[in-house]
Amino acid sequence: MLVGKKIVLVVTGGIAAYKAVTLTRLLVKAQADVRVVMTKSACEFVTPKTFSVLSTHPVLTDLFADTTDPAIDHIELADWADYMVVAPASANFIAKMAQGIADDAASSVVIARHTGIAIAPAMNSNMYQNPAVQRNLNQLSADGVKIMAPEQGQLAEGYAGIGRLAEPENLFAQIGILAETDEKTLTGKRVVVTAGGTQEPIDPVRYIANHSSGKMGYAFSQAAVEQGAQVTLITTVDLTPPPFTKVVHVKTAQEMQAALMQQYDAADVVIMAAAVADYRIAEPATQKMKKQADASGLTLKLVENPDILAELGAQKSHQYLVGFAAETQQLLDHAQAKLKKKHADLLIANDVSQADIGFGSDDNAVTLLFKNETPETLPKMSKLEVARQVLKLIKPRMEEA
Ligand code: CTP
Repeated sequence: MLVGKKIVLVVTGGIAAYKAVTLTRLLVKAQADVRVVMTKSACEFVTPKTFSVLSTHPVLTDLFADTTDPAIDHIELADWADYMVVAPASANFIAKMAQGIADDAASSVVIARHTGIAIAPAMNSNMYQNPAVQRNLNQLSADGVKIMAPEQGQLAEGYAGIGRLAEPENLFAQIGILAETDEKTLTGKRVVVTAGGTQEPIDPVRYIANHSSGKMGYAFSQAAVEQGAQVTLITTVDLTPPPFTKVVHVKTAQEMQAALMQQYDAADVVIMAAAVADYRIAEPATQKMKKQADASGLTLKLVENPDILAELGAQKSHQYLVGFAAETQQLLDHAQAKLKKKHADLLIANDVSQADIGFGSDDNAVTLLFKNETPETLPKMSKLEVARQVLKLIKPRMEEA
């Protein structure tokens, strides 16, 4: 079950840290690939050396470690992981997680995660029952963190109570199940993403384009690959695609439509992140157009392009259809209208009049309009994080549909 699984084990301070040694041994024995991160106080109880010998990898203890080994960079480690475990999780570390504080290597790895995470609280019973600790645990639960409950029993202080770290064998069994069920939510699903602005030719050297950078579509491709989907990316731009992605290059709206139609029957999810031109030149010149001699100006005749999303909506059977609404005013009204008109399941509305989000930017702040639901706003975050969050929200709705 855990064979080949990449597990980051975060060990925080507390007498129970010694149990994390046995847990590491059990995980390694089950052929998981384990990397350990320790807080400063954890190092007071067990040495990093113990974990590095058992895991056969260096242990990350310092956010600013002077090293070129990517295995001990906190972001690389977070990206690398398939699952994360914090055991034991001290009251202090739980509070930091609940607040999103990242002031050392361990808390930074945890906050940079893209995977599921389970924590095993371990502390004195009075600490454990303190309302602040309970409040933080409730918050973490609401954030999707799995809590491996502490046990009742003899505490280090010499009296009995709740707060004792579960035995390593017990934690190991729980991790096996959690890592399995919490992982890749789109395994076996086919996801088709479009990205970039279409280019509508005027003549062989000129075209009509728009400001779309394609970054949002590429972010969706990456997030879908991370979740185990088979991804086809139909794109007008040439950014570096995520691994395991089938890339189809197109230029015009009509080419994009044709490429999509080939994929549509087999697709489970279609994400129309491309900025499709509504119009194209009626008859593009076959030779480069020369400047007019009489300076009376030039009129280009445009004809309407197919509305690809609306056509996909009209032909929809099992597919889950996601569109974007890039607006500069009346964001939600326009987006609601598009959701209905195009028969999409989700319309992602973003205000492209703001320079720090939208076109070209690495960040986005969007409002999600799910069919028949009240709008849900995601605060400003990286486009990749937007994509991850959206896919997470889509999954249960796909099952209901
Ligand atoms: N779209 C499409 N085909 C078009 C135009 C848009 O498939 N010809 C898709 C876009 O990929 C996006 C959604 O429809 O997912 C909304 O695109 P947008 O440009 O915001 O809306 P339009 O329908 O073009 O309306 P308007 O330009 O009037 O805002």
